Amino acid sequence: MIHARISGTGSYLPGAPVTNDDLVARGIETSDEWIATRTGIRARHFAAEGQSASDLAEVASRRAIEAAGASGDDIDLIIVATSTPDFIFPSTAALLQSRLGIRNDGAAFDVQAVCSGFAYALSIAEKFIRSGSHQRALVVGAEVFSRILDWSDRGTCVLFGDGAGAVVLEAADQPGVLATALHADGLHHKILAVPGAISSGKVLGDPFLRMDGQAVFKFAVRVLGDVASEVLDAAGMSVDQIDWLIPHQANIRIIQSTAKRVGIPLEKVIATVGAHGNTSAASIPLALDAAIRDGRIVRGQNIVLEGVGGGFTWGAALIAY
Ligand code: UT7
Repeated sequence: MIHARISGTGSYLPGAPVTNDDLVARGIETSDEWIATRTGIRARHFAAEGQSASDLAEVASRRAIEAAGASGDDIDLIIVATSTPDFIFPSTAALLQSRLGIRNDGAAFDVQAVCSGFAYALSIAEKFIRSGSHQRALVVGAEVFSRILDWSDRGTCVLFGDGAGAVVLEAADQPGVLATALHADGLHHKILAVPGAISSGKVLGDPFLRMDGQAVFKFAVRVLGDVASEVLDAAGMSVDQIDWLIPHQANIRIIQSTAKRVGIPLEKVIATVGAHGNTSAASIPLALDAAIRDGRIVRGQNIVLEGVGGGFTWGAALIAY
């Protein structure tokens, strides 16, 4: 039986941290106290002008490939989860393949599931590898949400940041990804959306991120709790066997409520939202890489990763690391 195992991780945050006080200094009518109390966010990073999702993805990917002890040409599948691609087309994944100098005719495509994008991409890659069709996948979450924020909407612009995280997932004899679950309910598409579009070079409608924060909050806590239980059940495991929970990093209060619903103590929850803000599809691989590099996550541990986002979409993966 072929398993799909994480062999390396990498991540990248552009520029220096931008604190809540820095946002106040830039003229946003907010305060460190409001943002920190409601969200746990203290800082985030923003891409420089001209820096795109593929720029961030490239650095994170090179780090992940190095950590896996692989080379670019070993990668025969690239999946980039992003809602802020460089272009409508070509895909950010195809651009990334070119930037990494990979010329092996492997597959490359983007996945658009907003903040659930990494859970979706990882689950897709796992199925390709387990089928035997591909050997080594680069799975990336890369976002430049700063480009779709309305800086006059203080209810949203203080929440998000830019960044990228990547994992190399490869065929192995030993178990890696133990269970995955993906879901969507398009009925709720309006509570978190960029409701505009670009056509014939013109912006149609509203091109910025809009959100009903309270509706998103309630939805997120419910489905993140449910989907964690779903992957545990699918793998026949109990919550006591989980070493780490890595929920989507949107808001510390959502993370705490989710942990409570799942029944996992907060000491076993990885939270990077305070330093990264909400980086959408990049948030889970950024948190995973941070916890691997600082030594909290070690080989042999079981991890639940889970995302929720616009669409509405949600999903989880249970991983033996
Ligand atoms: O990937 C998923 C992404 N989405 C999320 O994570 C969002 C989940 N939702 C939330 O985290 C919360 O709903 C928010 C943090 C976004 C908002 O918290 P809230 O407790 O739901 O606040 P609210 O929207 O009800 O606003 C309360 C007050 C309002 O003032 P009044 O009307 O009570 O005078 C807002 O105008 O807070 C005000 N407010 C702010 N004040 C200072 C809204 N944004 C800000 C701000 N700074 N940045």
